[in-house]
Formats: sequence, C-alpha cells, structure tokens
Amino acid sequence: MTDSQPILMRHLENIADRTDELGVVFYGLLETRHPSLMDSFGPESTQRTQMLTQILAGVHDSMYVEDAEWVALQLRALGRAHVDWKVTPEMYDQVCGCLVDALSQLGDSGWSPELEEVWTAQLSKISVLMHGQGRP
Ligand code: HEM
Repeated sequence: MTDSQPILMRHLENIADRTDELGVVFYGLLETRHPSLMDSFGPESTQRTQMLTQILAGVHDSMYVEDAEWVALQLRALGRAHVDWKVTPEMYDQVCGCLVDALSQLGDSGWSPELEEVWTAQLSKISVLMHGQGRP
C-alpha cells in the first residue's frame, strides 16, 4: 500500500454523496476554461453527473494497489476506448486540472495541500496510463 492510498480513499468516501455539488463546480470551471470540451460530456445534467461519477470510479479503482499490473491493463483498455471517443492527451490535463480545482473549492471536505498533491499525482498517473504519452 502506498502512503497516498489511504488519504485519497478516505477523501473519496467523504465526497461520495456530493457528486452533484462537485459537478456544479467542475462543469462551471470546464465551461469557463475549456468550453469546447463541454460537448464531450453531453448536454444533460444527469449525463454530466454520470461522466463525473465514472471518472471518480476510475480513480477509486486505480487505487487497487494490490495488483498494479491489472490496474494498468484496465486503464490502458479504458484509454483505448477514449481514443475511439476522440479524447486527446491534452484533454486529460484540462479535465484533471478542473477536477482538482473543483475538489479544492468543495467546502467541508477536509481539503489540504497533501490532498492536492495526492489527487494531482494520481490523476496524472491515470492519465499517462490511459493516453500512453510519456508512459515509462
Ligand atoms: C482521469 C481520467 C478519466 C477517467 C478515469 C475516465 C473514466 C471513464 C469511464 C470509467 C468511462 C465509462 C467507460 C465505459 O462505459 O465503458 C468513461 C467514458 C467516457 N469518457 Fe472518460 N475518463 C477520463 C477522462 C476523460 C476525458 C479527459 C474525456 C474528454 C474530455 C472523457 C470523455 C469520456 C467520454 C466521451 C466517455 C463515453 C461516454 C459514453 O458515451 O458513454 N473522459 N470515462
């Protein structure tokens, strides 16, 4: 188990029932900073909440550190599907940047510089495995 695993898992549990609230902040940031990406997430708010839930579920599953090789295989397959959906490597940075900032703006979630660091690192790890660029 890595040091960051328990703190990120605990935070995911803290915010588990706040996806709607997080979604308002996340999509607000996305719309302001990268409006063209909004099309990827669909026009309906339920669809948008579902997309955010899928990303959070992906982060949750990526923390299954007992079998890192299996996790990497799953994320590579998920990344190939994203290529079919026309998702580019740049979009990962844009989406992950908005997600970290949205998380930081969510009140009463126990946000801290340490959480910012572990979220950023985990999303970056996931993104590299998914889009393949800069993969070791
Ligand atoms: C941290 C990075 C990401 C994770 C963990 C993630 C996770 C997921 C998951 C688990 C699914 C569902 C796959 C399925 O139904 O088989 C999904 C679907 C999708 N994701 Fe992502 N995603 C990420 C980044 C992105 C980015 C950057 C974009 C585009 C801006 C994106 C756009 C999509 C689209 C268009 C779908 C398909 C929705 C549909 O038609 O069902 N994702 N994502």
